[in-house]
Amino acid sequence: MKRSRSFSLLFYLYLLVIVFATFSIVSMEARKTNIKKKLHKRHKGGHTRGSHSPCPVPAPQGSTFDVLAFGAKGNGVSDDSEALLAAWNGACKVAAATVKIPAQFKFLMKPVTLQGPCMPDLTLQIDGTLLAPSEASSWPQSSLFQWINFKWVQNFTIIGSGTVDGQGYNWWSSSEFYDMQKTYSKHIPSIKPTAIRFYSSNFVTVRDIRIINSPLCHLKFDNSKGIKVNNITISSPENSPNTDGIHLQNTQDVEIQRSIISTGDDCVSIQTGCSNVHVHHINCGPGHGISLGGLGKDKTSAACVSDITVEDISMKNTLFGARIKTWQGGIGMVKNVTFSRIQVYDVMYPIMIDQYYCDKEICKNHTSTVVISGVKFDQIHGTYGMQPVHLACSNSIPCTDVDLSDIQLSPSPKYRGLQQAVCWNSYGKSQGPLIPSSIDYCLRSGGGLIKRIARSHDRVCY
Ligand SMILES: *[C@@H]1O[C@H](CO)[C@@H](O)[C@H](O)[C@H]1NC(C)=O
Ligand SMILES: *[C@@H]1O[C@H](CO)[C@@H](O)[C@H](O)[C@H]1NC(C)=O
Ligand SMILES: *[C@@H]1O[C@H](CO)[C@@H](O)[C@H](O)[C@H]1NC(C)=O
Ligand SMILES: *[C@@H]1O[C@H](CO)[C@@H](O)[C@H](O)[C@H]1NC(C)=O
Repeated sequence: MKRSRSFSLLFYLYLLVIVFATFSIVSMEARKTNIKKKLHKRHKGGHTRGSHSPCPVPAPQGSTFDVLAFGAKGNGVSDDSEALLAAWNGACKVAAATVKIPAQFKFLMKPVTLQGPCMPDLTLQIDGTLLAPSEASSWPQSSLFQWINFKWVQNFTIIGSGTVDGQGYNWWSSSEFYDMQKTYSKHIPSIKPTAIRFYSSNFVTVRDIRIINSPLCHLKFDNSKGIKVNNITISSPENSPNTDGIHLQNTQDVEIQRSIISTGDDCVSIQTGCSNVHVHHINCGPGHGISLGGLGKDKTSAACVSDITVEDISMKNTLFGARIKTWQGGIGMVKNVTFSRIQVYDVMYPIMIDQYYCDKEICKNHTSTVVISGVKFDQIHGTYGMQPVHLACSNSIPCTDVDLSDIQLSPSPKYRGLQQAVCWNSYGKSQGPLIPSSIDYCLRSGGGLIKRIARSHDRVCY
C-alpha cells in the first residue's frame, strides 16, 4: 500500500518533469524561430516592401549585419560585393551597428563604394578575407581609382583579425612593360586602384587588420580628419611599384601607430594639405621609408604641410629613411616637422631633403619652390648604405631652421657608401653627438634675412 502510493507519486513527478521539459524545449524553439524570422524580416526590410507587418521592426542598437545573411557566398569565386553593400545599407541606418565579414571565408569583391552618412559608431568587423578581382583586365573601367571606397563616413571603425587582399600581382608585373610601351595599354589601364580609400570622412579608426598586395596604395585618406590607425600590418613585395603603405592627403589630426609596413614604396606618405600628423612605433621596410611629398607638382595650387611628428620608428632595408621631397616650380610651405628616435638598419639615405625631386632623367630648373622651414632630425641611429645626410634645398630659397642633433650613423659593410654628409643651401643648428663628424660642418648657420623671405611665403598656405 505504502509502496504503491510512493510509486504513483514518483510517477506523477516523472510525468511532470517530462511535461515541463517538453514545454520549455518547445517554447525555446518557438523563441528561436521567432528571432530568426525577425532577423530575416529585418534584413529584408530595406529591400522587399509589402511584408506582413506594415512597419518593419527596427533593428536594435548594436545589431550585427553578417554578409553571409545578405547572400554572400564567401567562396572566393562568386562576387559578394552586392551582399556587402546590402549589409552596409542595413547597418548604416542603425546606431552602433556592426557589418561582419566572418572568419574562415573569402569574399571576392568588385570595387564598391560604402557611403555615409550613417548612424554613429558603425563598425566594419573584418575577420575573414576580402579579395579584389585578380585580373587587371576584369576591373570595371569606371572604378579604377580605388577598390573599397569609404565616402562621407563619420565615427566609423574598421577592426578585426582578417585580411584585405588587393591581389595586385597583375598590375605590378605589367606596369614595367606598360611604362616601356605605352601603346600596349589595352589590357592594363594607366590608372591603378588604391585598396582602401577614405574620402571626406571624419573620426575614423582602422585597427588590427592586414592589408596586402594592393595594385597601388594600400590605405589612403583624403579630405579627412580625426584619423587613427593602430596595430595594422601592410605588406606587398619589394618589387611592387608605387605601392605606398599609408597615404595621407588633405587630412588633419592623424595618429598612426604600432603598425608594420613593408611595400615597394613609402611606408607612410604625407602629402599636401596635411597637418597635425603623429606617426609613431612603426616598423618600416623594405620600402622607401617615411616621406613628406613629393610636394608642389601641381604648380597652380599651394602645397602646405605642417605640424608633423614622426618618432620611435624602426627602418630596415629601405631606400630612404626620413625624407622631404618637393618638385621644382611649386609653391607652398613645409613647416614644423620632427623626425625623432629613428633606428635605421642598412637604409641607403637615412636623412634626406630633396627639393629637386624629379621622376624623369632631367627636370627643368625653376626658381619658385615649396619653402621648407623648421625641420628637426633628432636621435637617428644605425647603419646607412649610400649617404648619411643629404639635404638638397632649393637654389632660390634655402631651407631654414633645419636642426640635426644626435645623429649617429655608420656605413653598412654591405655597401660602399660615402662618408660625407651633403647639405646644399640649408640653414640651421647641429648638436652632438654627430657621427660621421662631417655632419657638424654640413649646415650653414644664421640666415636671418633668408628666414624673413621664407616666412613671407607662408601666406599662400594660411
Ligand atoms: C564622433 O567622434 C568624435 C570624436 O571622438 C566626437 O567628438 C563626436 O561627438 C562623435 N560624433 C557622434 C555623432 O557620435
Ligand atoms: C593587434 O592585431 C592582432 C591581429 O589582429 C591581434 O591579434 C592583437 O590582439 C592586436 N593587438 C592589440 C594590442 O590590440
Ligand atoms: C609643431 O607640431 C607639433 C605636432 O607635431 C605641435 O604639437 C606643436 O605645437 C607645433 N609647434 C608649433 C610651434 O606650431
Ligand atoms: C639645375 O640646377 C642644379 C643646381 O644648381 C644644376 O646642378 C643643374 O645642372 C641644373 N639643371 C639644369 C637642367 O639646368
